[in-house]
Amino acid sequence: MLVFGIETSCDETAAAVVKDGKEVLSNIVSSQISVHSPFGGVVPELAARHHLEAIIPVMEKALDEASISFDRIDLISVTQGPGLIGALLVGISAAKALCYVTGIPLIGVDHLYGHIQSAFFAEEPVEFPLILLVVSGGHTSLFYSEQIGSYRLLGNTRDDAAGEAFDKVAKMLGLGYPGGIIIDRLAGEGNPSAFHFPRAFLGKKTYDFSFSGIKTAVVNFIRDYGMPSTGHGGTYRLEDLAASFQEAVVDMLLEKSFRAAEDFKVKHLAIVGGVAANSRLRKRFLEEGEFRGIKIHLAPLNFCTDNAAMIAAAGYHRFVEKGPDENPLEFEPYSRRVEDPFKPE
Ligand code: KG4
Ligand code: ZN
Repeated sequence: MLVFGIETSCDETAAAVVKDGKEVLSNIVSSQISVHSPFGGVVPELAARHHLEAIIPVMEKALDEASISFDRIDLISVTQGPGLIGALLVGISAAKALCYVTGIPLIGVDHLYGHIQSAFFAEEPVEFPLILLVVSGGHTSLFYSEQIGSYRLLGNTRDDAAGEAFDKVAKMLGLGYPGGIIIDRLAGEGNPSAFHFPRAFLGKKTYDFSFSGIKTAVVNFIRDYGMPSTGHGGTYRLEDLAASFQEAVVDMLLEKSFRAAEDFKVKHLAIVGGVAANSRLRKRFLEEGEFRGIKIHLAPLNFCTDNAAMIAAAGYHRFVEKGPDENPLEFEPYSRRVEDPFKPE
């Protein structure tokens, strides 16, 4: 079954063709980083305008690269939410127009459900039962899963998402947007134990996360010691601050994820979402997994940040499970999730 995926929830315009929810035939992502970077974050109005400009060429390129035309597509899958409404509307309108003109079934899927599916693009097949960590700019959530399509929420962030903490810290250091990849790069040259930042473990009774404390700790650190310099010579090194901050975030993610794996006696742990691209996180999870005898499934790097292949895969599974949407031209975007999309019916 060939699925055409479309994703426009934030600042990437993306389209992809995926076979049977697994085999990626094309995966086109047009990033708006240069548009939003001068503002230190995504400007919703600009995002919608740039999606409008990019959506048709991106969709054409996705078909071109897969060397197929629309008459071979069996299903269109588009991100319905959460995200920026103006941005989501561009993808959804394009998807509805295609559905109307071609008669191909259309399905709207949750962005988080899309990220989860990216675990299944890893070379090593994911096995169940599984603990799944979704860690991005909008989410930090831990799930327990016994099969594809069924995910029980164990914990969530109580405030900022981990990626949001990366972005905010980068912004206060004047490093630009998106901050995660910049901090990751700087941290590679720094000492992760140079400074100690607090880890919010919130006790053993919860799988929830909290990242607002570490953000405040970095604010206080800058207030007390001033802005850093790069290299040697200033009061302290930017690289050391980046590495110490990153280490604290990774420690929090690691502790909850492995505790969940042990509590549920699970031997497989998958990590997906933009922050799963972090090089230190990848290394630490792999090392800890080896030490504890838990197999780590990292989403491949090009599927960690937003893309449409994961949306196509999510649509495929929803379609197989529930069949076509009766009124595919009726559904609306949502900016926030109104209910748990994985709640059993
Ligand atoms: O999954 P994604 O593209 O969008 C959301 O659904 O949020 O994730 C974007 C987030 C941003 O906060 C970005 O700073 C973070 O992922 N990110 C990283 C890295 N690459 C992207 N965070 C840490 N290290 C990275 N290498
Ligand atoms: Zn995302």
